[in-house]
Amino acid sequence: MTTAQARVLRTEIPGPNSRELQRRRAATVAGGVASVLPVYITEAAGGVLHDVDGNSLIDLGSGIAVTNVGNAAPEVVEPVRRQVAEFTHTCFMVTPYENYLQVCEELAALTPGDHEKRSALFNSGAEAVENAVKIARRATGRPAIVAFDHAYHGRTNLTMALTAKSVPYKHGFGPFAPEVYRVPMSYPARDGRPGEQVAREAIERIDKQLGADQVAAVLIEPIQGEGGFIEPAPGFLPAIAKWCADNGVLFIADEIQTGFCRTGAWFACDHENVVPDLITTAKGIAGGLPLAAVTGRAELMDAMPPSSLGGTYGGNPIACAGALGAIRAMRERDLAAAARAIGDLVLPRLRALNTEAILDVRGRGAMIGIEFVKPGTTEPDPELTTRIAETCHARGVVILTCGTYGNVIRLLPPLVIDHALLIEGLEVLERAIREHTS
Ligand SMILES: Cc1ncc(COP(=O)(O)O)c(C=O)c1O
Repeated sequence: MTTAQARVLRTEIPGPNSRELQRRRAATVAGGVASVLPVYITEAAGGVLHDVDGNSLIDLGSGIAVTNVGNAAPEVVEPVRRQVAEFTHTCFMVTPYENYLQVCEELAALTPGDHEKRSALFNSGAEAVENAVKIARRATGRPAIVAFDHAYHGRTNLTMALTAKSVPYKHGFGPFAPEVYRVPMSYPARDGRPGEQVAREAIERIDKQLGADQVAAVLIEPIQGEGGFIEPAPGFLPAIAKWCADNGVLFIADEIQTGFCRTGAWFACDHENVVPDLITTAKGIAGGLPLAAVTGRAELMDAMPPSSLGGTYGGNPIACAGALGAIRAMRERDLAAAARAIGDLVLPRLRALNTEAILDVRGRGAMIGIEFVKPGTTEPDPELTTRIAETCHARGVVILTCGTYGNVIRLLPPLVIDHALLIEGLEVLERAIREHTS
């Protein structure tokens, strides 16, 4: 990490050069592609982003849970450099190469369960989810997929159908893919109920709506991401997984946001010893290079006919080199422990904020959410959430919001972040919360 790990503000945020680029962008980039903070980046390292105006921002978002190993991590940059000079692409479906195999070997070793596994590599999270559904339907011969309230699985047609939130993800974009059914998710801050009880209700809903023998798979984020960093009550995931196992229904864990040490373990399923039949990964897998995977039981994956899985770029050798470097960094630097240390540092501080505008501070490891409400109620307050986020942005701290109700601030710092820098970012956030809630 050669770039200084410090927050430096030389101009207002966004500065004049960013604003000028933003004007150019309006004339050429589709309006539907939005940016949380239109500050244009020239360089990034560790937990800091440098912009075109000479400002340095603290990164508490990791490009949405991607740069877990830090931006431009040397363990990623060096093998990528080597790979790009050796060859850039052949297409694994035409003439294969070894680092695709190595990524699949790592996935088999790291994902939950010690059964025999196979993986297929793709480009994006949504593509991995699409393929997991495809595999589940083919392997079971059943049509239905069960998804949950508050779920987010992507922006393609099938993943829009699987995603719960209408605006901005679905509204006006239908008709959607059929045979998707939605059931309740355990949301302790709002339902206050034991995990097993909510699971029973979800299962009853499935039994009544369609019957287990119609269900190919239950698809779930073990901790929901875009939906609001919702961590189900203990017992919820194991109860759903057990029902799946008892009924020949596949349990697909979407660990695209939670995976690769983010929650203090390699995967969030590890916390409750849940072993999915299929697991989708992306984001943190390759330190910023586009790569995604479906990893699953060998017999399910091998039930797919030749050429039924793939894509021109899936498992591109440069992305695979990045993934092997990122995984090495996670292992050698014990980034699961680093994520736990971040949680231990951040959660008590945020819990001490003690304002009626906070319904809940929750999270595991370095995946932390703060849910804002109108004081003394459970009514979501998305306006307050936005104001707090914008204040942090103006002061050089990149933080993200999320939630079905748009009322959750989510913290996803790079797992390698310098603790002094993290504390500085937190102080900015805590001050913004105090200013907007007192
Ligand atoms: C849980 C989950 N699934 C799927 C996706 C879609 O991934 P991508 O944006 O790479 O298509 C995301 C992205 O945020 C996600 O968080």
